[in-house]
Amino acid sequence: MDINILVKQYEKTFPKKEGCELRSFFSPGRINLIGEHTDYNGGHVFPCAITYGTYGIARKRQDRKIRMYSMNFEEKGVIEFQLDQLVYDPAHYWANYPKGMIRYIQEAGWVLPYGMDVLIYGNIPNGAGLSSSASLEMLTGVIVNELYKFDIDRLDLVKIGKKTENEFIGVNSGIMDQFAVGMGKENCGILLDCNSLEYQYAPLNLTGYKIMIMNTNKRRELSDSKYNERRSQCEAALERLQKVKEINSLGDLSEKEFETIKEHIHDKLLTKRAKHAVYENQRTLKALVALRDGDLNQFGLLMNASHVSLRDDYEVTGLELDTLVEAAWKQEGTVGARMTGAGFGGCAIAIVKADSVEKFISEVGKEYRKKIGYEATFYVASIGDGAKEIELSPSC
Ligand code: GLA
Repeated sequence: MDINILVKQYEKTFPKKEGCELRSFFSPGRINLIGEHTDYNGGHVFPCAITYGTYGIARKRQDRKIRMYSMNFEEKGVIEFQLDQLVYDPAHYWANYPKGMIRYIQEAGWVLPYGMDVLIYGNIPNGAGLSSSASLEMLTGVIVNELYKFDIDRLDLVKIGKKTENEFIGVNSGIMDQFAVGMGKENCGILLDCNSLEYQYAPLNLTGYKIMIMNTNKRRELSDSKYNERRSQCEAALERLQKVKEINSLGDLSEKEFETIKEHIHDKLLTKRAKHAVYENQRTLKALVALRDGDLNQFGLLMNASHVSLRDDYEVTGLELDTLVEAAWKQEGTVGARMTGAGFGGCAIAIVKADSVEKFISEVGKEYRKKIGYEATFYVASIGDGAKEIELSPSC
């Protein structure tokens, strides 16, 4: 990305006045390698930050106004609000994410003395399930932290991001997205225990292989989806299991323990949902072991099993994701493939031999077009760092 283009647009949108310098920031999107719909079930996830993300150019103001402009939503123009008016406003559209962040940062005791002018540009395909919203939340968090020289702990920012999503936007999501976006590290996956928030970085030594992102181009909106319904189904199953075993979450159970007590759920559908949560958590732990042992094939098999469980037991895939993943499985050079993120559209990922990538794209693309009637989009993922300030080039 050429930051100079963003700076030029910034100067046009917010003509320079006396005072503060311009600063620039980047916040990534994320993919999840394995561990889906486990975060809000007290299990493990294994996401990483990608090099697609959201850029922000920002300058402090000398009054209490916040002005924001997104090059992705030019038609919305400059969105303006006061630091003392941080309430959700549907007319403020995308700017509600930064607004919520600023509100909860202030509530945590970090009071902004002045406002700011911010320009945003994102190259994450919007609505693709690669966490464009967490990316924008964490971008805002880092901008505020750096511009005002606060010293907010990164994990606290991650939690504020989740709070924004849950309480300001109204989506009952877990912590995975903000965590991956806030804590990502180049060429590493992060194994996160969503119960204790203990985490470890696991180097992804994928020499000779690529991680492909396959976009169904079927938009999904978390708030429109069955996400919250799946979450309550898991809570209902947990409640029934808690009558016979002392557990805090489905993530506390091994497969064997689950099999011994599952009859106490007394409901076929809820049992399937809980089974996914328990088995997927165990698969995620096994995936880390496979990776550490350099057993990429085993890792791939676990990815495949994850997709099957999300398709059959959790029922969050749908025709578009299944078509992509099942076509990917058939290709020579595919190590593993699965949907990533919440599901119901959005993206799938595949680990593919580097020299098979071209053929992979053409074959999977062909099958998708034939069955679904429109194109899928393919990207090679690079694994990058979490949200951070970036240098403005000298010409700025
Ligand atoms: C969305 C949510 C996450 C997580 C995934 C499913 O991305 O924001 O918290 O629950 O779905 O794994």
